[in-house]
Amino acid sequence: MRVFTSLSLIALIVAPLALFAQAPANTPAAQQVPPMGWNSWNYFAERVDDKEIRAAADQLVSTGMKDAGYVYVNIDDTWEGERDAGGVLHTNAKFPDMKALADYVHSKGLKIGIYSSPGPKTCAGYEGSLGHEEQDAKMYAEWGIDYLKYDLCGFIPDVMEKQAPNDKAAQMKLMVAAYETMNSALKATGRPIIYSFCQYGWDAVWEWAPATGGNLWRTTGDIEPEWNRIYTIISQQEGLESYAGPGHWNDPDMLEVGNGKLTLAENRTHFSLWAMLAAPLLAGNDLPNMKPEIKAILTNRDVIAIDQDQLGKQGSRIYSDGEVDVWTRYLSEGALAIAVVNAGSDRYATHPFHLNLRKLGLASTQAGRDLWTEKTIELTENMPLELSSHDVLLMRVDAPRRPGVLLAPAPKTQTGAAQ
Ligand code: GAL
Repeated sequence: MRVFTSLSLIALIVAPLALFAQAPANTPAAQQVPPMGWNSWNYFAERVDDKEIRAAADQLVSTGMKDAGYVYVNIDDTWEGERDAGGVLHTNAKFPDMKALADYVHSKGLKIGIYSSPGPKTCAGYEGSLGHEEQDAKMYAEWGIDYLKYDLCGFIPDVMEKQAPNDKAAQMKLMVAAYETMNSALKATGRPIIYSFCQYGWDAVWEWAPATGGNLWRTTGDIEPEWNRIYTIISQQEGLESYAGPGHWNDPDMLEVGNGKLTLAENRTHFSLWAMLAAPLLAGNDLPNMKPEIKAILTNRDVIAIDQDQLGKQGSRIYSDGEVDVWTRYLSEGALAIAVVNAGSDRYATHPFHLNLRKLGLASTQAGRDLWTEKTIELTENMPLELSSHDVLLMRVDAPRRPGVLLAPAPKTQTGAAQ
């Protein structure tokens, strides 16, 4: 027992160090945890302008979201104007002065992000960076940009399908090279800029993104403020756990918390699962008109602490029973997060689900905390849990007890996405 315990302790200490060693070289030190902030697309889409970005920055501060960790204010597509004769890209009329806007966002103690595409056109048909990568990256750095979302979109029809028709492998090579080109351009600026890949998970992006400078990479197509889409995306994250780690994260897309017709339970589950997945937390709602209950979800510090846990280990779905899924996530200092999700109907509100601690590798009694009610909770084998439709029970167990083991076993060593 003593030998096992010491090995576990060593693993607990060494595993996180190994993770830090794999972070892409241009990662700012502070970005060892998943990025947190706000992005304009999910609520404003093409309607975003300078005024909305300033309002979002103001709101992040006044709502306490900044204090809770949300620092990036990210402008998505539709800020781009035309290129001049020298190839310099100008903003369009919605964004009269990008440098002044960046200064404003920085003056609030926040950071600013921008969007482009490796293609000649972006997804919304605006000017992309093809052939102007160095020029654009230099301009972003001069403006003081801290984050770039690089969206494949226009590159698919205009480069991949044109240059390599009917040759998927050659198309994928072109795609990887395009991300590498912008990586070199960003590095050459000398400014630490978070590099976010948006190419919907094509060609197992998690395997090559970190070596190509990616700090985060989308793993799926677009999210929508709708339970079935969110649950599909959650399910698609299974098996990607080993690719995430400090400085490089799977990105199941930006948050829809507070958008569309999501119920409070659905908003809670969406946010809880993004935390379990060590996902970037980029709110995408209408901040000036945020309801108190939505603010309460987005600023729940205990849930954010799960997402931002220094160990950087993404959670896994351990088992499903009927329509209920049980996820766990290893946390630093041997703690464990457990999420029980009712993906089905309200019948579990009256006919409880019974939690199997043994399947989670846990002893039959545990002291935990419910992170949504803030109540302590005694976990017992086969305990009945009443969960309404699409709701979640999210718990933190600080000192998990394993059957016959004093210490929690160390998480498996991180393999890293590039290996
Ligand atoms: C999509 C992307 C969205 C948004 C949009 C803008 O490709 O997945 O998140 O950026 O383009 O046109």
